Amino acid sequence: MKRINIAIDGYSGCGKSTLAKDLAGALNYTFIDSGAMFRGLTHYCIRHGIDMYDAGAIAELIQNRPSIVFDSKSNHLLLNGIDVETQIRNDQKVVSSVSFVAAVPHVRTYLKELQQEYIANKGVVMDGRDIGTVIMPDAELKVFVTATIEERVFRRLQQLKGQGESVTEEEVKTNLVERDRADANRSAAPLKKALNSVCFDTTNFTRESQLEAILSIARPKIDPEKYLPFIQ
Ligand code: DC
Repeated sequence: MKRINIAIDGYSGCGKSTLAKDLAGALNYTFIDSGAMFRGLTHYCIRHGIDMYDAGAIAELIQNRPSIVFDSKSNHLLLNGIDVETQIRNDQKVVSSVSFVAAVPHVRTYLKELQQEYIANKGVVMDGRDIGTVIMPDAELKVFVTATIEERVFRRLQQLKGQGESVTEEEVKTNLVERDRADANRSAAPLKKALNSVCFDTTNFTRESQLEAILSIARPKIDPEKYLPFIQ
């Protein structure tokens, strides 16, 4: 059987990471959450007291080349060897600033270098915004995930409430919409659907059924002799 790379892109809060993690688990592949890497770098900038609107200061700080590793055993982000998973998810300063940091070309160049180190051996499922367009343009399977804004707000609220966070529906909606707008309109590697990607609306799918839907597309690519006999 062939090992393939799978790129999962899409809007904030539509379940990309859950789908990517479940796919990697089902196929025994490595899951990489590229958004966690952007969040980790944002946390690093905050810790260094950087003004998030100062792209020059961010670019200068990155010259320190902080170690940013997505640990696929724990699915946690390690910044200079320290687990900062809780901080990158719950610190509202990270949540509200990450799109600004992600728009800085030096940030994208640095993280691209780190992200591409993971993909050489195949068997990687990576989710983000530019995975199918920039990071793994040769991925054998590219999925662009979407869902209605109502569903995305509902899911994100459930997740945050489950973690004991108190945020309003309006706050969650504003953050999702603003981040999507910033991600889709920046000049460096904007969020966009790769030409040869499958567009997948997850609104009415359960976690299990969305996994099964994408596995049904992945399997013929992984094992063409079984699923596509006689076809080159
Ligand atoms: O997937 P996420 O919500 O954890 O991503 C956090 C932010 O990082 C998001 O607002 C956009 C940015 N991002 C990006 O620009 N490119 C990626 N490949 C992944 C995330």
